[in-house]
Amino acid sequence: MQQLADQVVSASTDFLPLNGTDYVEFYVGNARQAAYYYRAAFGMKLVAYRGPETGTRDRASYLVQQDKIRFVLTTALSPDGEIADHVKLHGDGVHEIALWVDDAASAYRETTKRGARGVLEPTVHKDEHGEVRISAIAAYGDTLHGFIERKNYRGVFLPGFRAVDGDDPVSRPVGLKYIDHMVGNVGWGQMNAWVGFYRDVMGFQLYQHFDDKDISTEYSALMSKVMSNGNGRVKFPINEPATGKRKSQIEEYLEFYHGPGVQHIAMATDDIIGTVSKLRAQGIEFLRVPTTYYDDLVERCGKIDEPVDQLADLGILVDRDDEGYMLQIFTKPVEDRPTLFYEVIQRKGSRSFGKGNFKALFEAIEREQGLRGNL
Ligand code: FE2
Repeated sequence: MQQLADQVVSASTDFLPLNGTDYVEFYVGNARQAAYYYRAAFGMKLVAYRGPETGTRDRASYLVQQDKIRFVLTTALSPDGEIADHVKLHGDGVHEIALWVDDAASAYRETTKRGARGVLEPTVHKDEHGEVRISAIAAYGDTLHGFIERKNYRGVFLPGFRAVDGDDPVSRPVGLKYIDHMVGNVGWGQMNAWVGFYRDVMGFQLYQHFDDKDISTEYSALMSKVMSNGNGRVKFPINEPATGKRKSQIEEYLEFYHGPGVQHIAMATDDIIGTVSKLRAQGIEFLRVPTTYYDDLVERCGKIDEPVDQLADLGILVDRDDEGYMLQIFTKPVEDRPTLFYEVIQRKGSRSFGKGNFKALFEAIEREQGLRGNL
């Protein structure tokens, strides 16, 4: 692994300045029920709605939010069109990773001029709260990157959405704060092409990389490179399968998602023990590593603030590098297709992605793959 984090693009040379992730939009089979799941299980609050009642005829969308994390769950109201097609092919999945910018027209111009495929030219959306400018380009598979310019907007989310006021009786917050990174799975031999896309088209830099020596188990192998934007607020690891004895977790994903797409979204917390305890109580299922993982934890990672017995009880993993340590845990896939899952992460100095946990973690994933008959 190489740590390249200290190379920071200065503001003057960053042709695509990003303020952070604006929202993630999922295309799903039933947005009303998906929204309930994210509210009751992940503790997000229903904040805004768009659908027939607000004048949108072809779709319904629910915006759920926890601190800075915003998910939009969108469903088609008819069998025709891109939403229904997306759900038929991929199952429920991420359609758009929307990035918050100060200038959506410039973001579109600078990326398309460097080779991005334009999907939505800069468009102005207005209502009584002001205006939002939106553009979008294609990323891997059917995934888009939207550019959202909201500096002249004071509404709750976007024009067309109606705020849902008052307490959300379903929401049970768990302390999730912001999106730390979002990982894309791409096809065989495609990782470097997409690394090139993020470098050349979006101005990102290589942050860390892992090869199959870091992350192969008996059966599974993958390669991964982490791309980061100039200010480090947006990080996109890209995985591709590597040859192993049996079908890797990335291949299983590609088969069931029918192509490249978002594999996992990592959400940060300041209190991983509290957050994971609540998530478990609310029905979220996590991968488990063997209890022997904890036998030599302090030997491997040094002194940590958290009681090891509580980490072991919850299945939380720890990894240390020269800057500090980090704690992480992964959910099982949140759909019936073994595609999207979530990571909960707490950073205590470390900017790593948990390389020391890959082996134990991937063996846990393979046990689940075996149960599904996909190994
Ligand atoms: Fe991750």
